[in-house]
Amino acid sequence: MKDHPLHTDWSFDGTAARRDQYYSASLKKFIPFRDPIVFKRGRGQYLWDTEEHRFTDLLGMNVCISVGHSHPRVVEAAMEQARELTHCTTMFYHPTPAHLAEELAATMPAGEEWVVHLTNSGAEAIDLAMTMARTYTGNLDLLALRTSYHGPTAAAQSITGISSWRHPGMPGNVAFVAEPNQYRGIFGPGTQPYLDEIDRVIASATSGQVAGMFVESVQGYGGIIEMPPGYMSGAAERVRAAGGLYIADEVQSGFGRTGAHFWGFEADGVVPDIVVMAKGLGNGFPIGAVVARKAVAEPMAERFMFHTYGANPTSCAAARAVLAVLRDEGLQENAARVGSALLERLEELKSRHRAIGDVRGKGLMLATEMVSDRDAKTPDKDTTAAVFEACRDAGLILSKSGPFQSTLRMVPPLCLSMEDVDQVAEGLDAAFCSL
Ligand SMILES: Cc1ncc(COP(=O)(O)O)c(C=O)c1O
Repeated sequence: MKDHPLHTDWSFDGTAARRDQYYSASLKKFIPFRDPIVFKRGRGQYLWDTEEHRFTDLLGMNVCISVGHSHPRVVEAAMEQARELTHCTTMFYHPTPAHLAEELAATMPAGEEWVVHLTNSGAEAIDLAMTMARTYTGNLDLLALRTSYHGPTAAAQSITGISSWRHPGMPGNVAFVAEPNQYRGIFGPGTQPYLDEIDRVIASATSGQVAGMFVESVQGYGGIIEMPPGYMSGAAERVRAAGGLYIADEVQSGFGRTGAHFWGFEADGVVPDIVVMAKGLGNGFPIGAVVARKAVAEPMAERFMFHTYGANPTSCAAARAVLAVLRDEGLQENAARVGSALLERLEELKSRHRAIGDVRGKGLMLATEMVSDRDAKTPDKDTTAAVFEACRDAGLILSKSGPFQSTLRMVPPLCLSMEDVDQVAEGLDAAFCSL
């Protein structure tokens, strides 16, 4: 086996040495734990390292794992397609992406004609949505929220409102508005002051005519920031009055994760002009999509827009299976039920641990924010890092998030169970007690 050209060295030292020598600085940088882990396999909501230690994956591999690690139906659908024809470039006909487009359009609000453009990733879909909004409206200026994250490409970075994710060379014509963070937003709790802020920013930092506004229906990397009631619909009204489109980024909040709805924007009854999705759609297989009102997508046909792997049938077969599993296993309902039980346990932890300043979220999109002073709400990055490390000993993988790295984000596979809730609450409790 050792002479096989695809021999894999599973030793920690071997992986560490290869990464060290051959990964670029930027690829090496993003390591959450002090002592890295090598993961070997996953099933459902669990991961195992090379020593057979089991972890509950509360990060869902960066929110990519929606229906559970290596879900047999998703793996089988992809393998069956890969064996038959692994790739069929977008310009040729293939039924699988066409079926997927029909199935995604069917998840959108009724009363509109929806069309789908498949991409390889979320950031590509964001780029496409930016171009689509600018092409359709003929306007350049875009609005985005502070503490947003929309992806690593230059264009997606330009609408990302966290400086540590922004590199030199981003395109311009983006104005940021204050995020309606109900815990520490600059205007305090409420919706109206944040809507007024949109009016002010349109009037002061744009030409008055905008191409669109991007809103994560629940901010993910920003630290699980829900849009308060009336915000999404009010934002859509204001941006449309200025000639622009309302664009919902559902890369993290979609596919039933918030429990109450399949798409996060549905919480506010708003009908977006464009919806961007990725991650959970493929359950780990790379895929993204822009779903747009047909009229909005139409002017893009003037020029070519081609993503080589955009309608890759293997990823599309996986995505079709994901949609079927979400439905057949009632995972949105599970997210609502298990998420509210976990939220209750987090609230209980907050009542006993002063380091927890806030607990928030819905469905299986939850967070605790750590502060060194509850009254001043001083973000506590160090305690967050310490709890994060201690959770590992309790078999929990979480995510340090938010602009101050002071939030522990929980976005597990949607099959997390009630039994897991006990383990998570007890693990977190032990981690806080160990401080
Ligand atoms: C809300 C949101 N939008 C867009 C993206 C970009 O997706 P991708 O990493 O697939 O390019 C991400 C990635 O984390 C995201 O969280």
